[in-house]
Amino acid sequence: MKAWLLDNFGLDNLRLGEVPTPAPKENEVLIKVSVVSLNFRDKAIVDGIYEPEMIPKPLIPVSDAVGVVVAVGAGVSHLKEGDRVNSHLYSTWVDGDPKPNEPDFCYGAPLRGGLAEYMILNAASAVKAPEAMTDEEASALPIAALTAWYSLMDYGQLQPGQTVLVQGTGGVCVFAVQIASAFGAKVIATSSKDENLAKVKALGAWEGINYTKRPDWEKVALELTDGKGVDQLLDVVGGDGLNQSVAATRVGGHISQIGFLQGQTAKLDLMRVIFRQTAIRGIAVGPSRAFERMNDFLNKHEIHPVIDKAYPFEQAREAYEHLARGAFGKVVIKGACNP
Ligand SMILES: NC(=O)c1ccc[n+]([C@@H]2O[C@H](COP(=O)([O-])OP(=O)(O)OC[C@H]3O[C@@H](n4cnc5c(N)ncnc54)[C@H](OP(=O)(O)O)[C@@H]3O)[C@@H](O)[C@H]2O)c1
Repeated sequence: MKAWLLDNFGLDNLRLGEVPTPAPKENEVLIKVSVVSLNFRDKAIVDGIYEPEMIPKPLIPVSDAVGVVVAVGAGVSHLKEGDRVNSHLYSTWVDGDPKPNEPDFCYGAPLRGGLAEYMILNAASAVKAPEAMTDEEASALPIAALTAWYSLMDYGQLQPGQTVLVQGTGGVCVFAVQIASAFGAKVIATSSKDENLAKVKALGAWEGINYTKRPDWEKVALELTDGKGVDQLLDVVGGDGLNQSVAATRVGGHISQIGFLQGQTAKLDLMRVIFRQTAIRGIAVGPSRAFERMNDFLNKHEIHPVIDKAYPFEQAREAYEHLARGAFGKVVIKGACNP
């Protein structure tokens, strides 16, 4: 099969090649990939800044895919040839609490990803793709949408009328705006671009803050919430900015620590965390049962993922470059058999 292969770190080392088509083993299915979507994780893996010691080489990158089942391994009864399914990043995390070794079973590193003609999925965690969505839309769900959903609903136990702050207008946060707003929460979004703030407001956000014009965005968030702070904050920025997130979140509020766009370590003012009794929880996407619950919600509220651009399979490197420049919503890549 055709596959993009990462021989070494750096986008120049991503090359189009051929590898044997895998056959599904027990409890696995083989899908013909229709579309994959890019996440910051995929770029960080290629750049060599995402757990570089766990990346096998060559690697077929990209975790998030939608495709059609073309072969079924022994022991699989709930999926059949012709089913349209999504990959689920944490391929062995189906429900309940995660096991300590879940990161060892993630697609797109260390397991093979979907930037190829075919992809092997663990049948237990593969999720039927929402019928109302196109392949491009469905490909956007596995990491970005589920991370937003799991943070807001499973961890944050969001209630209608509560306030939520989301940082930037990347993949996770655009989904968070759509989901939380549809649920009846008041979402404050930040962005470096006024035009993106207008776009998230059109998707339901209540207020926007340009964090370039207002680097003290946490003060604006306090003003917007009568000095209390937001009930929940989805932190995708990381680094020392976590102190601003604590300041912007109400006493006893929840922070989902999702990302590390600004740094993988933080010098945290513990006295502020103690006085504000902030709950900070690391989030690792979520289990596949939460993915199914999310799909029910997306269907019910007729929410469709925002796709910035779809690239042909041969232009995978251009898609990575697009993500690096910044996107509004998701950058996706069509499968090799999907012109
Ligand atoms: N833990 C998990 O389960 C999980 C899951 C998904 C993602 N993540 C992590 O979360 C982060 C975001 O992922 P993504 O896929 O949503 O990224 P993305 O689509 O590449 O989005 C990046 C966006 O973040 C915004 N941004 C960048 N620097 C910022 C800053 N200093 N302050 C506020 N916003 C800033 C920018 O928005 P504007 O252009 O609007 O300024 C940028 O477009 C990454 O670190 C990723 O690895 C973690």
